[in-house]
Amino acid sequence: MLQKPRGTRDFLPDEMDARRTVEWRMRDVGRRWGYREVCTPEFEDLELFTMRSGEGIIEEMYVFEDKGGRKLALRPEITAAVIRMYVNEAKVAPKPLRWCYFADCFRYERPQKGRYRQFWQFGVELIGADSAMADAEVIMVAADILNATGVRYELKVGHLALMRNMIADLEPAARRKVRAHLDKRDFEGLKVTLEAMGKPDLAQSLVTLVGCRTLKEAFAITGEIPEAERIGKTLAVLDSYGVKYSLNFGIARGLDYYTGIVFEGFADNLGAENQILGGGTYRLAHLFGGDDVASCGFAIGFDRVMVSLGDAPLQKDTVVGVVCTEEGRVRALAVARAFREAGIRAEMDLMERGLGAQLAHASKSADFAVVIGKREAESGGVTLRNLKTGEQKALDLAAAIAEVGAHGSR
Ligand code: HAM
Repeated sequence: MLQKPRGTRDFLPDEMDARRTVEWRMRDVGRRWGYREVCTPEFEDLELFTMRSGEGIIEEMYVFEDKGGRKLALRPEITAAVIRMYVNEAKVAPKPLRWCYFADCFRYERPQKGRYRQFWQFGVELIGADSAMADAEVIMVAADILNATGVRYELKVGHLALMRNMIADLEPAARRKVRAHLDKRDFEGLKVTLEAMGKPDLAQSLVTLVGCRTLKEAFAITGEIPEAERIGKTLAVLDSYGVKYSLNFGIARGLDYYTGIVFEGFADNLGAENQILGGGTYRLAHLFGGDDVASCGFAIGFDRVMVSLGDAPLQKDTVVGVVCTEEGRVRALAVARAFREAGIRAEMDLMERGLGAQLAHASKSADFAVVIGKREAESGGVTLRNLKTGEQKALDLAAAIAEVGAHGSR
């Protein structure tokens, strides 16, 4: 038997129902904040992702050459593609642009629960607003979306300027190493790296910075920095809106394009792969031939949210099995259409079975059976049977639709 590729998944109808329910909760919040959906290609020129994605992601990319000899990559994330599209298509549009997406990404990672080679992100990008209010808006949207899904999580907010200020004297390669250690919360590795460079005190200060939970404590280590006022303003907006977060200046983010505020969300009930959201402010447009526009965004790991929610989001449709005799078939088609037009899922027999066999099948696959025999075809009424209770009544069509509809909304 052929199997699906490692790190990918199949989704059966119940799982797709649950995924779509949660996806639409996310979209709905995005829409209400003014974020409109965009879509970019599944693959892009490799260069788009190698320019500023960071080593980790570059190593994990699915790279291939097409028949024309072009070097392409399946997208490992969507931010770079969205900014490429902005530069190509929307540079002159009035700012800010509020965009969102729901799309799959590909990373060649070691698969485990919550970590896949094909996974979905719901993300937003706010392009062209450079203010504390803009940074705060993106974090408020993130919190509102996660709250709408029902996932239990913790949100951590930091700012790269503090750490950058402390490691400004290091060589670029050493800075990257330090950030990689911090991103993985690998404090032992951080100590070893900095001790080897003759900077054990810096390792200690960075570990202390990571432990700071107030701006005051953090600035006591880094000294006053120019970004302090904007950070304070952003946090004040978050506090006034009631966003629940903690400060963490150890957030380094795995991608290389971030510039300022950074934030991450962690689900309460997942193991190692518990990061369900990541984002921050960044600048990419100038690298792709556009203006040096400030942007801020995040992406939610949709599959991890689904793992965290478990079976909770499943909303089952009420199903009507429209059961008929030969004489009732034409009327049954019209009855099934009337249920569908009322928004109710209605299914008819396709196996040319007798009435008894149709009813037996309906009792396994539906909540109600609507029976249309010769009598019903002539009278214009229906027989409605509740397949869970066995209760059966003769009704006119409108009353039957109302009764099934009321069951669905309970
Ligand atoms: P990221 O942190 O690399 O950021 O990915 C965002 C989220 O995608 C992660 O927090 C995680 O939940 C999920 N994720 C990542 N890899 C996997 C995987 N192998 N399997 C399942 N879920 C995964 C970005 O991608 C940035 N583009 C976010 C952003 C948008 N920054 C600014 N705008």
